[in-house]
Amino acid sequence: MPRYSRLPRESYVTQEWFEHERKTIFDNAWTFIGVSGDFGKSGDYQTVRSGTSSIMVIAGKDDQLKAFHNLCRHRGTELLDEEKGNVSGAIVCPYHRWTYGLDGALRGLPKRSICFPDIDQNAMGLKPAAIGIHKDLIFINPNPDADFDKWIKPLLGKEWPHNLFASDVKEAAPLIYDLKCDWKIFVENALDGYHLAYLHKNTLAGPLPEHNIWERAGDHLIWYATEDGARHRLPMKMRNEAGTSGIIESAKTPGYGSVYYLFPSTLIVPTPYGLSISKLHPTAPGRCRMTVRNWIGPWQWKDERKYIQGFNRDTGIISSENWTKHPLECGDFQTEDVWICEKLQRGLESSAYEHGPLAKGAGAEDPIEWFQETLLSNT
Ligand code: FES
Ligand SMILES: [Fe+2]
Repeated sequence: MPRYSRLPRESYVTQEWFEHERKTIFDNAWTFIGVSGDFGKSGDYQTVRSGTSSIMVIAGKDDQLKAFHNLCRHRGTELLDEEKGNVSGAIVCPYHRWTYGLDGALRGLPKRSICFPDIDQNAMGLKPAAIGIHKDLIFINPNPDADFDKWIKPLLGKEWPHNLFASDVKEAAPLIYDLKCDWKIFVENALDGYHLAYLHKNTLAGPLPEHNIWERAGDHLIWYATEDGARHRLPMKMRNEAGTSGIIESAKTPGYGSVYYLFPSTLIVPTPYGLSISKLHPTAPGRCRMTVRNWIGPWQWKDERKYIQGFNRDTGIISSENWTKHPLECGDFQTEDVWICEKLQRGLESSAYEHGPLAKGAGAEDPIEWFQETLLSNT
């Protein structure tokens, strides 16, 4: 690949870039998989795709969580199909029934003495992946040598205080969006402080570019609203409208940010009323899936999905294909963002596209430049 100063148009639209990113970014990236409370008993597992790999996290007999590549050491069959479940004691490959313990060791294989008289069984355990846990959030990296402490360190001391397992916190149904845009378009839109007052005129209505700031924290970024000069965890409009009722106990401590972007694919939004974690997963050139998990006070709980434009009850997926109203009329800023990201994707698919200038400022479009620098330095 040639050296670029900005991401080229091709990076949003071509199969070649999609494959390139799978290997250079996502085969070596920290991806959010779940929270410690998801793993209640030994044998509980979750799987997630990152880059070319499928990774499983599994609770061992000692309740320790371990991450492995989800592939059989015999001929390579993917072992676990579901996103989550329980394997009660062992992982058995359905092809020739090689059997692995929860610690990844190869425990047994049929007809060993006849068919594999020379096998070194100890060397044929599941391939490890890296796992990192911070504030009950679990991240995996397909590269077993990846350094979690180095990745998370810039955020230390700046995190949200939320306790997801307190009695005044409850998890809502996850939201799954199929997005007709490249994952980078969604990230860049999330980091863009220039659009808040304009695209979101009817919803967020700001802040203006000079009244918000993205602060760099290593490869990550933290957003604050700054309308009165100080850094706040909510924009002033929301602070004024929401008041103080419904605040969860652990989120009372002030001083945390409003949005945390963790390179490359995680967005965390803590508020006094709850916390949401979004994960972006590229599925094809110009397409991605976003999964959003949301923890709120139980008094707020309702199945929010049915109020979201484009939610299909049968598939459980939210998609612009199912919109029945214009996105600017539905009063939901996330739907406004989906609309604009998909429009931007269509624009970028035109060969007439050329880069325009980015708006200067840490509350405007500088963060898009920082994101692109980080991405390009990794590809
Ligand atoms: S591929 Fe798994 S047992 Fe043969
Ligand atoms: Fe937005």
